[in-house]
Amino acid sequence: MPVEIHISRAGPYDATAMAAIHRTCFAKPWDAAAMAQFLASPDVLCLMGSVADSSGGIAGGMLIARRAADEAELLTLAVAPACRNAGLGTALLKSAMNLLREAGAVRLFLEVEEGNEAALRLYRSLGGEPVGRRPGYYEGRADAAIFSLALSPPAADDGACQQEARPSIHAQGRDERKPA
Ligand SMILES: CC(C)(COP(=O)(O)OP(=O)(O)OC[C@H]1O[C@@H](n2cnc3c(N)ncnc32)[C@H](O)[C@@H]1OP(=O)(O)O)[C@@H](O)C(=O)NCCC(=O)NCCS
Repeated sequence: MPVEIHISRAGPYDATAMAAIHRTCFAKPWDAAAMAQFLASPDVLCLMGSVADSSGGIAGGMLIARRAADEAELLTLAVAPACRNAGLGTALLKSAMNLLREAGAVRLFLEVEEGNEAALRLYRSLGGEPVGRRPGYYEGRADAAIFSLALSPPAADDGACQQEARPSIHAQGRDERKPA
């Protein structure tokens, strides 16, 4: 079933929804107060993403990244289980990469748990390369891989990241949701 993806900058009113999505993805979720702090920070980019099919839309993804001069760091990326594997995570990250590049960043860094195949695949598909490791980063157990993504200009035909006058981005999702 065709799905339509919508990405927009989050506003103060999104703090609760962001926390709700985060809670579906992480054992130690960030609460709405934490989200509100990110939303109030001028150096932090907060995006919300939704997928819609013929039966309606659901706000199921969020991303937070911080920029400092020409470098940026992905603080979190979360897509609720019901919305996964439809292209939403890719659309969120592509949009963030374009917006961060427009703000002056040339490189995006992130940490990802080794063994998180979905995230690793997503980051590699957008040109991410491992540049280091943090042993025992996750609760002293799992190691983290540090990835770097170059924020080069988008390809001319990359409709997923074109920004409209209103800061929202539409993209066509995968034709069909693949089994996760
Ligand atoms: C990682 C995550 C954001 C991906 O979101 P998503 O919307 O499912 O991603 P997409 O649909 O854009 O798919 C991205 C890639 O991952 C692949 N993928 C998705 N689910 C997968 C799975 N369970 N196993 C392996 N690969 C998977 C997709 O096939 C796609 O690769 P492709 O373009 O080569 O086909 C989502 O799984 C998530 O929120 N996980 C929990 C939180 C998390 O780990 N966040 C990242 C922390 S670093």
